[in-house]
Amino acid sequence: MSPLTRRQLLALGAAGAGATIVGGAGLWWTTSSSRGYMGGQDLIEPQVLSSRDRVLALDLEAAPTRIQVGGREASVQTFNGSLPGPTLRVAPGDTIRVAMTNRLEAPTNLHVHGLHVCPEGNGDNPFLSIAPGESFDYEFVLPEDHLPGTYWYHPHRHGHVADQVAAGLYGAIIVEDTEPVPVARERVLVVSDLSLDASGNLAEIDRMQQMMGREGEVVLVNGQVRPRLTAAPEERERWRIVNACPSRYLRLQLEGQQVRLLSRDLGRLPVPEEITEVLLAPGNRVELLIETTEGSAVLVAAPVGRGGMDSMMGGGMMGDNNPGNDDATELFTLEVTGDAAQTPQPVPAGPALRDLRGEPVAGRKTLDFAMGMAGSMGGDGATMGGMGSGENSVMAFTINGQEFDPERTDAPVTAGTVEEWTLTNSSPMDHPVHLHVWPMQIIDDGDRDVSEPRWQDVVNVPARGQVKVLIAFEDFPGRTVYHCHILDHEDQGMMGTVEARRG
Ligand code: C2O
Ligand code: CU
Ligand code: CU
Repeated sequence: MSPLTRRQLLALGAAGAGATIVGGAGLWWTTSSSRGYMGGQDLIEPQVLSSRDRVLALDLEAAPTRIQVGGREASVQTFNGSLPGPTLRVAPGDTIRVAMTNRLEAPTNLHVHGLHVCPEGNGDNPFLSIAPGESFDYEFVLPEDHLPGTYWYHPHRHGHVADQVAAGLYGAIIVEDTEPVPVARERVLVVSDLSLDASGNLAEIDRMQQMMGREGEVVLVNGQVRPRLTAAPEERERWRIVNACPSRYLRLQLEGQQVRLLSRDLGRLPVPEEITEVLLAPGNRVELLIETTEGSAVLVAAPVGRGGMDSMMGGGMMGDNNPGNDDATELFTLEVTGDAAQTPQPVPAGPALRDLRGEPVAGRKTLDFAMGMAGSMGGDGATMGGMGSGENSVMAFTINGQEFDPERTDAPVTAGTVEEWTLTNSSPMDHPVHLHVWPMQIIDDGDRDVSEPRWQDVVNVPARGQVKVLIAFEDFPGRTVYHCHILDHEDQGMMGTVEARRG
């Protein structure tokens, strides 16, 4: 027997010392907070709603819901009673009509993350608010040349986004390929996390968790704890993975299987790229191709240090200020057994990715993402010496020194032009920066030359680092937002407005 690698030890650590196998019922284990969740059930996928005659029309109800999570009763919030909500499956050129009803006690609304659709009126409008008890009819019209990929939907009512997403309000959107990729099966895997208290209610969030960005105590895949997937050897699967966690980064690893990256956020790579791990910031998606090999493999989310506030707090005195440094988490097991399947057809090369380098740049902007003590803004790295526990502190989350104001237009751009944006981070924590409607081409990520065209709609800007992107503000004039996708940061003000105006 070969000694365990560090990675295997980390993977084992997720189950904790208290792990016990309980018959056929699955695996029970104890979390650090001593609350037991049960896992090991067969994976369930959300219901799929597909368009017909170029239209997908649906009712979507956001409501408090009592469900089972990992064998425990849980009071969460869901779309249409299930966690995640239904998967919406459409093709380029389709129209999605959503009759949304708010049965929550707080205002809400709906955002279609990553879709290239109109941000105005009853489109993907983040400034709308649906009051409790009210309904609203959304319409999203996808252009004929919309890029295929895995997208998602979630509420976007400022001040309530982290609470509502953490409570269970999210679902996947699939925009189909124009040229299909031959696979034995496709799976939609929505990853989220939550914390329950002893009576199964969502745990209260304290001020420190809000500042760090909350990470739930249990990580779910399609609302399940450590589910089980099965396949035959030599099959090809396509996994569409959504990081719907409010703040948690996922560094995904699957040992013992061949893994290729097919898509990152939008579109697809012309040739899938062999990988050993992939990092998803909150809001990111990936599509993976798995060529199965006999055996049992575990999809692990390895620890990700995303910075912390130690350096602002004078170091160490605030308890655990560095989220994401805990043990690895097991997301699910893949069991590959039985007779080998027929070797799948090769994956046809996809169209080349667009490259905005070489197109004229009509404007340049710098957006600085910062955290500081309110009242001492503007200075860098404001310290918090002598402020005690920090529970009463007022930390401001800003972009270019300002908190979100829906009335103010922070970034005017001319519709139809390309701009270069430099995203800087003068804080000691990473911020995953997201822009609605128009995807970003990363041309400089701080350490590496980005030679291949690389497109994302959430771009991680590391602590004290910077990233440069190109954006083509085309197809839709209108006003929308960009923000940190650590949703607690967004709710606390780390969001700005952009308006594409007709030139
Ligand atoms: Cu996924 Cu503005 O959000
Ligand atoms: Cu979005
Ligand atoms: Cu942030």
